[in-house]
Amino acid sequence: MTRKFDFLVIGSGIAGISFALKAAQYGKVALLCKTTLGESNTSYAQGGIASVTYAPDSFEKHIEDTLISGDGHCNLAAVKKVVYEAPSQIQELLNWGVDFDKDENGLFDLHREGGHSEHRILHHKDNSGFEIQESLIRQVKAHSEIEVFEHYFAIEILTQHHCGQIVTHHTPNIECYGAYVLDQRTNNIHTFLGKITLLATGGIGSVYSTTTNPEIATGDGIAMVHRARGVIKDMEFVQFHPTALFHPGERPTYLITEAIRGYGAVLRTQDGKEFMQKYDERGSLAPRDIVARAIDNEMKMRGHDYVYLDVTRMNAEETKTHFPNIYKKCLELGIDITKDFIPVSPTQHYLCGGIVVDLNGKSSINQLYAAGECSCTGLHGANRLASNSLIEAIVYADAALKDALQQLNSISFNDCIPAWNDEGTSLPEEMVLITQSFREVEQIMSTYVGIVRSNLRLKRAMKRLEILYRETEHLFEKSVVSREICELRNVISVAYLIIKQAIMRKESRGLHYTVDYPERMKSEQ
Ligand code: FAD
Ligand code: SIN
Repeated sequence: MTRKFDFLVIGSGIAGISFALKAAQYGKVALLCKTTLGESNTSYAQGGIASVTYAPDSFEKHIEDTLISGDGHCNLAAVKKVVYEAPSQIQELLNWGVDFDKDENGLFDLHREGGHSEHRILHHKDNSGFEIQESLIRQVKAHSEIEVFEHYFAIEILTQHHCGQIVTHHTPNIECYGAYVLDQRTNNIHTFLGKITLLATGGIGSVYSTTTNPEIATGDGIAMVHRARGVIKDMEFVQFHPTALFHPGERPTYLITEAIRGYGAVLRTQDGKEFMQKYDERGSLAPRDIVARAIDNEMKMRGHDYVYLDVTRMNAEETKTHFPNIYKKCLELGIDITKDFIPVSPTQHYLCGGIVVDLNGKSSINQLYAAGECSCTGLHGANRLASNSLIEAIVYADAALKDALQQLNSISFNDCIPAWNDEGTSLPEEMVLITQSFREVEQIMSTYVGIVRSNLRLKRAMKRLEILYRETEHLFEKSVVSREICELRNVISVAYLIIKQAIMRKESRGLHYTVDYPERMKSEQ
Protein backbone atom coordinates (compact mmCIF):
# COMPACT_ATOMS: atom_id res chain seq x y z
CA MET A 1 0.00 0.00 0.00
CA THR A 2 1.27 3.51 -0.78
CA ARG A 3 0.61 6.38 1.62
CA LYS A 4 1.37 10.04 0.95
CA PHE A 5 2.33 12.73 3.45
CA ASP A 6 3.82 16.21 3.25
CA PHE A 7 6.19 15.30 6.08
CA LEU A 8 7.43 11.82 6.85
CA VAL A 9 9.01 11.83 10.32
CA ILE A 10 10.91 8.68 11.29
CA GLY A 11 11.47 8.65 15.05
CA SER A 12 9.45 9.86 18.02
CA GLY A 13 12.07 11.17 20.45
CA ILE A 14 12.55 14.88 21.10
CA ALA A 15 13.84 15.54 17.57
CA GLY A 16 11.01 13.77 15.73
CA ILE A 17 8.11 14.90 17.89
CA SER A 18 9.17 18.54 18.16
CA PHE A 19 9.50 18.66 14.36
CA ALA A 20 6.12 16.94 13.89
CA LEU A 21 4.30 19.30 16.24
CA LYS A 22 5.50 22.33 14.33
CA ALA A 23 5.17 20.77 10.85
CA ALA A 24 1.52 19.88 11.53
CA GLN A 25 0.62 23.55 11.05
CA TYR A 26 1.70 23.32 7.41
CA GLY A 27 0.67 19.89 6.17
CA LYS A 28 -0.05 16.23 6.77
CA VAL A 29 2.49 14.51 9.01
CA ALA A 30 3.25 10.80 9.49
CA LEU A 31 5.12 10.13 12.75
CA LEU A 32 6.70 6.67 12.79
CA CYS A 33 8.35 4.74 15.58
CA LYS A 34 9.49 1.18 15.67
CA THR A 35 7.99 0.32 19.03
CA THR A 36 5.82 2.69 21.06
CA LEU A 37 5.76 6.49 21.12
CA GLY A 38 7.37 6.56 24.55
CA GLU A 39 10.32 4.21 23.94
CA SER A 40 13.25 6.41 22.95
CA ASN A 41 16.61 7.55 24.27
CA THR A 42 14.86 10.79 25.10
CA SER A 43 12.71 9.04 27.72
CA TYR A 44 15.81 7.80 29.52
CA ALA A 45 17.60 11.17 29.80
CA GLN A 46 18.30 12.02 33.41
CA GLY A 47 20.48 15.09 33.86
CA GLY A 48 18.55 17.62 31.79
CA ILE A 49 18.92 20.14 29.02
CA ALA A 50 21.61 22.82 28.77
CA SER A 51 20.68 26.44 28.11
CA VAL A 52 21.97 29.78 29.33
CA THR A 53 19.30 31.11 31.70
CA TYR A 54 20.65 33.55 34.30
CA ALA A 55 23.79 35.62 34.92
CA PRO A 56 26.61 35.02 35.72
CA ASP A 57 26.17 32.44 32.95
CA SER A 58 26.53 33.77 29.42
CA PHE A 59 26.39 32.57 25.81
CA GLU A 60 30.15 33.05 25.60
CA LYS A 61 30.72 30.67 28.51
CA HIS A 62 28.43 27.98 27.10
CA ILE A 63 30.16 28.30 23.71
CA GLU A 64 33.58 28.08 25.33
CA ASP A 65 32.68 25.01 27.42
CA THR A 66 31.28 23.23 24.35
CA LEU A 67 34.41 23.99 22.32
CA ILE A 68 36.76 22.82 25.08
CA SER A 69 34.83 19.59 25.51
CA GLY A 70 34.79 19.05 21.72
CA ASP A 71 38.60 19.04 21.72
CA GLY A 72 39.20 21.28 18.72
CA HIS A 73 36.79 19.43 16.42
CA CYS A 74 33.55 21.43 16.81
CA ASN A 75 31.93 23.44 14.04
CA LEU A 76 31.86 26.91 15.59
CA ALA A 77 28.80 27.99 13.59
CA ALA A 78 26.83 24.99 14.87
CA VAL A 79 27.95 25.68 18.44
CA LYS A 80 26.84 29.31 18.24
CA LYS A 81 23.56 28.35 16.63
CA VAL A 82 22.62 25.89 19.37
CA VAL A 83 23.76 28.09 22.25
CA TYR A 84 22.02 31.24 20.96
CA GLU A 85 18.79 29.47 19.97
CA ALA A 86 18.57 27.33 23.13
CA PRO A 87 16.51 29.75 25.26
CA SER A 88 13.75 30.12 22.65
CA GLN A 89 13.52 26.35 22.23
CA ILE A 90 13.35 25.92 26.02
CA GLN A 91 10.40 28.30 25.89
CA GLU A 92 8.76 26.01 23.29
CA LEU A 93 9.17 23.09 25.70
CA LEU A 94 7.62 25.12 28.50
CA ASN A 95 4.74 26.05 26.18
CA TRP A 96 4.22 22.33 25.53
CA GLY A 97 3.88 21.78 29.25
CA VAL A 98 7.34 20.53 30.25
CA ASP A 99 7.83 21.11 33.95
CA PHE A 100 11.41 22.04 34.87
CA ASP A 101 12.21 22.19 38.61
CA LYS A 102 12.22 25.59 40.29
CA ASP A 103 13.62 26.74 43.63
CA GLU A 104 11.71 28.34 46.50
CA ASN A 105 12.00 31.76 44.75
CA GLY A 106 10.38 30.51 41.59
CA LEU A 107 13.66 30.52 39.65
CA PHE A 108 14.78 27.51 37.64
CA ASP A 109 16.89 25.15 39.75
CA LEU A 110 19.93 24.80 37.52
CA HIS A 111 22.26 21.81 37.80
CA ARG A 112 25.89 21.62 36.80
CA GLU A 113 27.58 18.70 35.03
CA GLY A 114 31.08 17.75 33.85
CA GLY A 115 32.75 20.32 31.59
CA HIS A 116 30.25 23.10 32.42
CA SER A 117 31.76 26.20 34.04
CA GLU A 118 28.32 27.31 35.34
CA HIS A 119 25.07 25.89 36.63
CA ARG A 120 23.00 25.76 33.40
CA ILE A 121 21.15 22.44 33.23
CA LEU A 122 17.36 22.72 33.40
CA HIS A 123 15.96 19.48 34.74
CA HIS A 124 12.98 17.68 36.16
CA LYS A 125 14.29 15.81 39.21
CA ASP A 126 16.55 13.06 37.81
CA ASN A 127 14.17 11.99 35.04
CA SER A 128 14.14 15.02 32.75
CA GLY A 129 13.84 13.00 29.56
CA PHE A 130 10.74 11.17 30.70
CA GLU A 131 9.10 14.49 31.58
CA ILE A 132 9.95 15.90 28.13
CA GLN A 133 8.83 12.78 26.24
CA GLU A 134 5.51 12.50 28.10
CA SER A 135 4.73 16.21 27.63
CA LEU A 136 5.44 15.99 23.90
CA ILE A 137 3.32 12.85 23.55
CA ARG A 138 0.39 14.62 25.20
CA GLN A 139 0.70 17.36 22.56
CA VAL A 140 0.88 14.84 19.69
CA LYS A 141 -2.29 13.14 20.87
CA ALA A 142 -4.10 16.47 20.70
CA HIS A 143 -3.10 17.05 17.06
CA SER A 144 -5.32 15.72 14.29
CA GLU A 145 -2.83 16.56 11.51
CA ILE A 146 -0.30 14.08 12.92
CA GLU A 147 -0.94 10.44 12.10
CA VAL A 148 1.01 8.22 14.49
CA PHE A 149 2.31 4.83 13.36
CA GLU A 150 3.55 2.77 16.31
CA HIS A 151 5.39 -0.51 15.60
CA TYR A 152 6.21 0.67 12.06
CA PHE A 153 9.82 -0.03 11.18
CA ALA A 154 11.52 2.00 8.43
CA ILE A 155 13.61 -0.35 6.30
CA GLU A 156 15.07 1.86 3.57
CA ILE A 157 14.82 5.44 2.43
CA LEU A 158 13.68 5.76 -1.16
CA THR A 159 15.86 7.42 -3.77
CA GLN A 160 16.39 7.35 -7.56
CA HIS A 161 17.93 3.90 -6.94
CA HIS A 162 14.43 2.54 -6.37
CA CYS A 163 13.33 3.96 -9.73
CA GLY A 164 15.99 1.89 -11.46
CA GLN A 165 18.82 4.44 -11.64
CA ILE A 166 22.37 3.66 -10.59
CA VAL A 167 23.22 5.80 -7.55
CA THR A 168 26.81 6.08 -6.33
CA HIS A 169 28.62 8.32 -3.84
CA HIS A 170 29.39 10.55 -6.85
CA THR A 171 25.80 10.88 -8.09
CA PRO A 172 24.90 14.57 -7.91
CA ASN A 173 21.54 15.48 -6.41
CA ILE A 174 20.41 12.24 -4.83
CA GLU A 175 16.79 12.76 -3.78
CA CYS A 176 14.72 11.19 -1.03
CA TYR A 177 11.09 10.30 -1.77
CA GLY A 178 10.13 8.62 1.52
CA ALA A 179 10.73 5.12 2.89
CA TYR A 180 9.75 1.47 2.74
CA VAL A 181 8.20 0.68 6.09
CA LEU A 182 7.38 -2.65 7.74
CA ASP A 183 4.13 -2.79 9.72
CA GLN A 184 5.31 -5.21 12.39
CA ARG A 185 1.78 -6.19 13.37
CA THR A 186 0.75 -7.47 9.92
CA ASN A 187 4.21 -7.99 8.38
CA ASN A 188 3.14 -5.90 5.37
CA ILE A 189 5.63 -3.54 3.79
CA HIS A 190 4.19 -0.14 2.86
CA THR A 191 5.56 2.62 0.68
CA PHE A 192 5.44 5.89 2.60
CA LEU A 193 5.95 8.81 0.25
CA GLY A 194 6.99 12.10 1.83
CA LYS A 195 7.70 15.43 0.16
CA ILE A 196 10.06 15.99 3.07
CA THR A 197 11.56 13.19 5.16
CA LEU A 198 13.12 13.73 8.59
CA LEU A 199 15.31 11.05 10.11
CA ALA A 200 15.20 11.27 13.89
CA THR A 201 16.13 7.68 14.64
CA GLY A 202 18.39 8.27 17.64
CA GLY A 203 21.49 6.45 18.84
CA ILE A 204 23.54 3.31 18.30
CA GLY A 205 24.01 1.83 21.78
CA SER A 206 22.96 -1.64 20.66
CA VAL A 207 26.22 -1.94 18.76
CA TYR A 208 27.94 -2.47 22.15
CA SER A 209 27.35 -5.13 24.79
CA THR A 210 26.81 -2.61 27.56
CA THR A 211 25.01 0.65 26.95
CA THR A 212 22.69 3.10 28.66
CA ASN A 213 20.52 3.15 25.51
CA PRO A 214 17.30 1.16 25.15
CA GLU A 215 17.40 -1.70 22.64
CA ILE A 216 15.78 0.39 19.87
CA ALA A 217 19.13 2.21 19.48
CA THR A 218 20.43 0.29 16.46
CA GLY A 219 21.55 3.21 14.31
CA ASP A 220 18.90 2.55 11.64
CA GLY A 221 18.86 6.08 10.22
CA ILE A 222 22.63 6.19 9.86
CA ALA A 223 22.71 2.77 8.18
CA MET A 224 19.88 3.73 5.80
CA VAL A 225 21.67 6.90 4.72
CA HIS A 226 24.92 5.00 4.31
CA ARG A 227 23.19 2.51 2.01
CA ALA A 228 21.57 5.40 0.11
CA ARG A 229 25.09 6.86 -0.46
CA GLY A 230 24.64 9.85 1.85
CA VAL A 231 27.50 11.37 3.86
CA ILE A 232 28.28 10.04 7.36
CA LYS A 233 31.00 11.52 9.57
CA ASP A 234 32.73 11.43 12.97
CA MET A 235 31.61 7.89 13.78
CA GLU A 236 34.82 7.21 15.71
CA PHE A 237 33.64 9.56 18.46
CA VAL A 238 31.59 7.15 20.55
CA GLN A 239 30.88 8.52 24.02
CA PHE A 240 31.18 6.28 27.05
CA HIS A 241 29.41 7.64 30.12
CA PRO A 242 31.79 7.39 33.07
CA THR A 243 29.24 6.43 35.70
CA ALA A 244 26.77 3.73 34.78
CA LEU A 245 25.62 1.58 37.67
CA PHE A 246 27.72 -1.59 37.84
CA HIS A 247 25.06 -4.28 37.83
CA PRO A 248 26.11 -7.04 35.41
CA GLY A 249 23.38 -8.49 33.25
CA GLU A 250 21.09 -5.45 33.34
CA ARG A 251 20.36 -4.02 29.89
CA PRO A 252 20.19 -1.10 29.35
CA THR A 253 22.68 -0.24 32.01
CA TYR A 254 21.18 2.13 34.57
CA LEU A 255 22.75 5.58 34.46
CA ILE A 256 23.94 7.50 37.49
CA THR A 257 23.61 11.04 36.22
CA GLU A 258 26.64 13.29 35.94
CA ALA A 259 24.56 15.92 37.77
CA ILE A 260 25.29 13.96 40.93
CA ARG A 261 28.98 14.86 40.53
CA GLY A 262 27.97 18.47 39.85
CA TYR A 263 26.08 18.25 43.14
CA GLY A 264 29.14 17.05 45.04
CA ALA A 265 29.72 13.32 44.53
CA VAL A 266 33.31 12.18 43.97
CA LEU A 267 34.90 9.14 42.38
CA ARG A 268 36.96 6.70 44.47
CA THR A 269 38.82 3.49 43.77
CA GLN A 270 37.64 0.38 45.59
CA ASP A 271 40.05 1.12 48.47
CA GLY A 272 38.25 4.44 48.98
CA LYS A 273 40.90 6.78 47.50
CA GLU A 274 39.99 9.75 45.27
CA PHE A 275 41.90 9.58 41.98
CA MET A 276 40.55 12.14 39.49
CA GLN A 277 42.94 14.93 40.52
CA LYS A 278 45.79 12.75 39.17
CA TYR A 279 44.23 13.03 35.71
CA ASP A 280 42.72 16.51 35.55
CA GLU A 281 42.61 19.57 37.76
CA ARG A 282 38.82 19.68 37.33
CA GLY A 283 38.70 16.37 39.23
CA SER A 284 35.42 14.45 39.06
CA LEU A 285 33.91 17.29 36.99
CA ALA A 286 36.33 17.05 34.05
CA PRO A 287 34.73 16.40 30.62
CA ARG A 288 33.42 12.91 30.06
CA ASP A 289 36.13 11.54 27.81
CA ILE A 290 38.76 12.34 30.43
CA VAL A 291 36.78 10.90 33.35
CA ALA A 292 35.86 7.71 31.44
CA ARG A 293 39.50 7.13 30.41
CA ALA A 294 40.72 7.76 33.96
CA ILE A 295 38.25 5.22 35.38
CA ASP A 296 39.13 2.74 32.63
CA ASN A 297 42.82 3.12 33.49
CA GLU A 298 42.29 2.71 37.26
CA MET A 299 40.14 -0.37 36.68
CA LYS A 300 42.71 -1.94 34.32
CA MET A 301 45.67 -1.20 36.62
CA ARG A 302 43.90 -2.74 39.59
CA GLY A 303 42.07 -5.53 37.79
CA HIS A 304 38.76 -4.17 39.06
CA ASP A 305 35.37 -4.18 37.33
CA TYR A 306 34.17 -0.92 38.87
CA VAL A 307 35.07 2.14 40.91
CA TYR A 308 32.91 3.94 43.44
CA LEU A 309 30.87 7.11 43.30
CA ASP A 310 30.53 8.65 46.74
CA VAL A 311 27.69 11.02 47.53
CA THR A 312 27.54 10.12 51.24
CA ARG A 313 29.09 13.40 52.41
CA MET A 314 26.14 15.41 51.05
CA ASN A 315 22.95 16.09 52.99
CA ALA A 316 20.89 12.89 52.85
CA GLU A 317 17.49 14.57 52.52
CA GLU A 318 18.69 16.86 49.75
CA THR A 319 20.18 13.91 47.90
CA LYS A 320 16.86 12.09 48.05
CA THR A 321 14.98 15.20 46.85
CA HIS A 322 17.30 15.87 43.89
CA PHE A 323 17.82 12.27 42.82
CA PRO A 324 14.72 10.34 43.92
CA ASN A 325 14.81 7.76 41.12
CA ILE A 326 18.50 6.97 41.53
CA TYR A 327 17.96 6.68 45.28
CA LYS A 328 15.05 4.28 44.76
CA LYS A 329 16.78 2.20 42.07
CA CYS A 330 19.95 1.73 44.16
CA LEU A 331 17.95 0.96 47.30
CA GLU A 332 16.21 -1.87 45.42
CA LEU A 333 19.68 -3.35 44.91
CA GLY A 334 20.59 -2.92 48.58
CA ILE A 335 22.61 0.29 48.12
CA ASP A 336 21.52 3.27 50.24
CA ILE A 337 23.31 6.06 48.37
CA THR A 338 23.11 8.40 51.38
CA LYS A 339 25.30 5.91 53.30
CA ASP A 340 26.92 3.55 50.78
CA PHE A 341 29.26 4.12 47.85
CA ILE A 342 27.74 3.38 44.42
CA PRO A 343 29.65 0.90 42.18
CA VAL A 344 29.99 2.41 38.69
CA SER A 345 31.85 1.75 35.44
CA PRO A 346 31.97 3.44 32.00
CA THR A 347 29.38 2.30 29.45
CA GLN A 348 28.53 3.24 25.85
CA HIS A 349 26.15 6.17 25.99
CA TYR A 350 26.09 8.44 22.94
CA LEU A 351 27.38 8.90 19.39
CA CYS A 352 28.77 12.31 18.39
CA GLY A 353 28.94 11.48 14.68
CA GLY A 354 26.25 10.44 12.24
CA ILE A 355 24.39 11.77 9.20
CA VAL A 356 26.13 14.97 8.16
CA VAL A 357 23.77 17.96 8.12
CA ASP A 358 24.27 21.63 7.42
CA LEU A 359 23.11 24.50 9.63
CA ASN A 360 19.57 23.90 8.33
CA GLY A 361 19.55 20.25 9.35
CA LYS A 362 19.74 19.24 5.67
CA SER A 363 21.60 16.03 4.81
CA SER A 364 23.66 15.46 1.65
CA ILE A 365 20.50 13.95 0.09
CA ASN A 366 17.86 16.37 -1.20
CA GLN A 367 14.53 16.48 0.67
CA LEU A 368 16.12 14.50 3.50
CA TYR A 369 16.77 16.12 6.87
CA ALA A 370 18.20 14.62 10.03
CA ALA A 371 18.03 15.81 13.63
CA GLY A 372 18.96 14.52 17.05
CA GLU A 373 21.43 11.80 17.88
CA CYS A 374 21.45 10.23 14.39
CA SER A 375 22.78 13.48 12.92
CA CYS A 376 26.21 15.07 12.92
CA THR A 377 25.87 18.84 13.13
CA GLY A 378 29.41 19.50 14.36
CA LEU A 379 28.17 20.82 17.72
CA HIS A 380 29.80 18.08 19.76
CA GLY A 381 33.07 17.82 17.88
CA ALA A 382 35.13 14.98 19.30
CA ASN A 383 33.33 14.83 22.65
CA ARG A 384 29.82 15.99 23.56
CA LEU A 385 29.42 18.30 26.51
CA ALA A 386 26.90 16.84 28.97
CA SER A 387 23.25 17.77 28.39
CA ASN A 388 23.97 19.36 25.01
CA SER A 389 22.16 16.71 22.99
CA LEU A 390 18.50 17.27 23.88
CA ILE A 391 18.96 20.95 23.13
CA GLU A 392 20.76 20.22 19.86
CA ALA A 393 17.91 17.94 18.79
CA ILE A 394 15.18 20.52 19.31
CA VAL A 395 17.18 23.42 17.84
CA TYR A 396 18.00 21.46 14.67
CA ALA A 397 14.49 20.02 14.32
CA ASP A 398 13.27 23.62 14.30
CA ALA A 399 15.89 24.66 11.72
CA ALA A 400 15.02 21.68 9.52
CA LEU A 401 11.34 22.59 9.45
CA LYS A 402 12.06 26.24 8.60
CA ASP A 403 14.26 25.16 5.69
CA ALA A 404 11.84 22.47 4.51
CA LEU A 405 8.95 24.95 4.38
CA GLN A 406 10.82 26.98 1.80
CA GLN A 407 10.75 24.10 -0.66
CA LEU A 408 7.60 22.24 0.31
CA ASN A 409 5.36 23.77 -2.36
CA SER A 410 7.80 23.08 -5.17
CA ILE A 411 8.07 19.34 -4.40
CA SER A 412 5.70 16.77 -5.84
CA PHE A 413 5.33 13.10 -4.91
CA ASN A 414 7.42 10.68 -6.91
CA ASP A 415 5.23 7.99 -8.37
CA CYS A 416 7.97 5.85 -9.92
CA ILE A 417 8.54 3.85 -6.74
CA PRO A 418 7.56 0.19 -7.12
CA ALA A 419 6.06 -1.81 -4.26
CA TRP A 420 8.58 -3.74 -2.14
CA ASN A 421 9.55 -6.94 -3.95
CA ASP A 422 9.95 -10.01 -1.75
CA GLU A 423 9.77 -12.62 -4.49
CA GLY A 424 11.85 -15.71 -3.82
CA THR A 425 12.34 -15.01 -0.14
CA SER A 426 11.42 -17.31 2.74
CA LEU A 427 11.64 -17.37 6.51
CA PRO A 428 15.22 -17.93 7.69
CA GLU A 429 15.85 -21.54 8.67
CA GLU A 430 17.28 -20.49 12.01
CA MET A 431 16.13 -17.18 13.47
CA VAL A 432 18.55 -17.78 16.32
CA LEU A 433 21.46 -17.12 13.93
CA ILE A 434 20.32 -13.49 13.76
CA THR A 435 20.40 -13.09 17.54
CA GLN A 436 23.75 -14.83 17.75
CA SER A 437 25.28 -12.63 15.06
CA PHE A 438 23.96 -9.59 16.92
CA ARG A 439 25.75 -10.74 20.09
CA GLU A 440 28.92 -11.24 18.04
CA VAL A 441 28.81 -7.65 16.77
CA GLU A 442 28.40 -6.34 20.34
CA GLN A 443 31.27 -8.53 21.48
CA ILE A 444 33.59 -7.35 18.70
CA MET A 445 32.82 -3.70 19.38
CA SER A 446 33.13 -3.92 23.16
CA THR A 447 36.34 -5.95 23.01
CA TYR A 448 38.21 -4.10 20.26
CA VAL A 449 36.58 -0.70 19.73
CA GLY A 450 36.11 0.62 23.27
CA ILE A 451 37.61 3.51 25.20
CA VAL A 452 41.26 2.73 24.37
CA ARG A 453 42.01 1.63 20.82
CA SER A 454 44.99 0.49 18.74
CA ASN A 455 45.66 -0.29 15.07
CA LEU A 456 45.87 -3.98 15.86
CA ARG A 457 42.56 -4.04 17.72
CA LEU A 458 40.75 -2.05 15.03
CA LYS A 459 42.07 -4.31 12.26
CA ARG A 460 40.96 -7.39 14.18
CA ALA A 461 37.54 -5.89 14.66
CA MET A 462 37.22 -5.15 10.93
CA LYS A 463 38.26 -8.67 9.89
CA ARG A 464 35.74 -10.30 12.20
CA LEU A 465 33.01 -7.91 11.15
CA GLU A 466 33.62 -8.62 7.45
CA ILE A 467 32.67 -12.26 7.98
CA LEU A 468 29.43 -11.27 9.71
CA TYR A 469 28.70 -8.74 6.97
CA ARG A 470 28.98 -11.31 4.18
CA GLU A 471 26.91 -13.90 6.05
CA THR A 472 24.19 -11.40 6.91
CA GLU A 473 23.88 -9.89 3.42
CA HIS A 474 23.49 -13.41 2.04
CA LEU A 475 20.83 -14.21 4.64
CA PHE A 476 19.02 -10.89 4.00
CA GLU A 477 18.77 -11.51 0.26
CA LYS A 478 16.92 -14.78 0.68
CA SER A 479 14.89 -13.94 3.81
CA VAL A 480 11.45 -12.50 4.35
CA VAL A 481 12.06 -9.09 5.85
CA SER A 482 11.84 -8.85 9.62
CA ARG A 483 12.78 -6.11 12.05
CA GLU A 484 15.42 -8.45 13.50
CA ILE A 485 17.32 -9.00 10.26
CA CYS A 486 17.11 -5.31 9.33
CA GLU A 487 18.48 -4.26 12.71
CA LEU A 488 21.31 -6.78 12.40
CA ARG A 489 22.26 -5.32 9.01
CA ASN A 490 22.08 -1.85 10.50
CA VAL A 491 24.31 -2.55 13.50
CA ILE A 492 26.84 -4.18 11.17
CA SER A 493 26.85 -1.04 8.97
CA VAL A 494 27.20 1.23 11.99
CA ALA A 495 30.01 -0.91 13.46
CA TYR A 496 31.74 -0.86 10.07
CA LEU A 497 31.54 2.95 9.89
CA ILE A 498 32.88 3.34 13.45
CA ILE A 499 35.82 1.02 12.82
CA LYS A 500 36.60 2.46 9.38
CA GLN A 501 36.55 6.07 10.56
CA ALA A 502 38.54 5.15 13.69
CA ILE A 503 41.20 3.51 11.50
CA MET A 504 41.38 6.65 9.37
CA ARG A 505 42.00 8.98 12.34
CA LYS A 506 45.74 8.89 12.94
CA GLU A 507 45.70 10.81 16.23
CA SER A 508 44.04 10.78 19.63
CA ARG A 509 41.33 13.39 19.98
CA GLY A 510 38.39 13.63 22.33
CA LEU A 511 36.64 10.29 22.56
CA HIS A 512 38.97 8.60 20.08
CA TYR A 513 42.05 7.50 21.99
CA THR A 514 44.56 5.18 20.35
CA VAL A 515 47.83 3.95 21.84
CA ASP A 516 49.43 4.09 18.37
CA TYR A 517 48.91 7.85 18.01
CA PRO A 518 48.57 9.13 21.59
CA GLU A 519 49.05 12.79 20.60
CA ARG A 520 46.51 15.15 19.13
CA MET A 521 47.47 16.57 15.74
CA LYS A 522 47.50 20.32 15.20
CA SER A 523 44.15 21.87 16.12
CA GLU A 524 41.59 21.61 13.33
CA GLN A 525 39.98 24.95 14.09
P1 FAD B 1 15.51 9.11 20.40
O1 FAD B 1 14.94 9.82 21.55
O2 FAD B 1 16.41 7.98 20.67
O3 FAD B 1 14.30 8.56 19.50
C1 FAD B 1 14.55 7.68 18.43
C2 FAD B 1 13.24 7.32 17.79
O4 FAD B 1 13.49 6.73 16.53
C3 FAD B 1 12.40 6.31 18.56
O5 FAD B 1 11.07 6.72 18.52
C4 FAD B 1 12.53 5.03 17.73
O6 FAD B 1 11.43 4.16 17.79
C5 FAD B 1 12.67 5.61 16.36
N1 FAD B 1 13.30 4.72 15.37
C6 FAD B 1 14.59 4.32 15.32
N2 FAD B 1 14.80 3.55 14.25
C7 FAD B 1 13.61 3.45 13.60
C8 FAD B 1 13.17 2.78 12.44
N3 FAD B 1 14.00 2.02 11.70
N4 FAD B 1 11.87 2.89 12.07
C9 FAD B 1 11.01 3.63 12.82
N5 FAD B 1 11.37 4.29 13.92
C10 FAD B 1 12.65 4.20 14.31
N6 FAD B 1 21.08 14.08 26.66
C11 FAD B 1 20.98 15.29 27.26
O7 FAD B 1 21.07 16.33 26.58
N7 FAD B 1 20.77 15.36 28.60
C12 FAD B 1 20.66 14.28 29.40
O8 FAD B 1 20.46 14.39 30.59
C13 FAD B 1 20.79 13.01 28.80
N8 FAD B 1 20.73 11.87 29.56
C14 FAD B 1 20.74 10.67 28.92
C15 FAD B 1 20.56 9.52 29.70
C16 FAD B 1 20.46 8.28 29.08
C17 FAD B 1 20.27 7.05 29.92
C18 FAD B 1 20.55 8.19 27.67
C19 FAD B 1 20.44 6.87 26.98
C20 FAD B 1 20.77 9.33 26.91
C21 FAD B 1 20.87 10.57 27.52
N9 FAD B 1 21.06 11.74 26.78
C22 FAD B 1 20.98 12.95 27.39
C23 FAD B 1 21.14 11.68 25.33
C24 FAD B 1 19.77 12.03 24.74
O9 FAD B 1 18.76 11.46 25.53
C25 FAD B 1 19.62 11.53 23.32
O10 FAD B 1 20.72 11.89 22.55
C26 FAD B 1 18.37 12.15 22.68
O11 FAD B 1 17.26 11.89 23.50
C27 FAD B 1 18.14 11.59 21.31
O12 FAD B 1 16.90 12.04 20.87
P2 FAD B 1 16.43 11.69 19.40
O13 FAD B 1 15.13 12.37 19.19
O14 FAD B 1 17.52 11.94 18.45
O15 FAD B 1 16.25 10.09 19.40
C1 SIN C 1 23.65 12.48 32.61
O1 SIN C 1 22.63 12.77 33.21
O2 SIN C 1 24.74 12.27 33.14
C2 SIN C 1 23.57 12.35 31.15
C3 SIN C 1 23.68 13.68 30.56
C4 SIN C 1 23.96 13.55 29.11
O3 SIN C 1 24.19 12.46 28.59
O4 SIN C 1 23.98 14.59 28.46
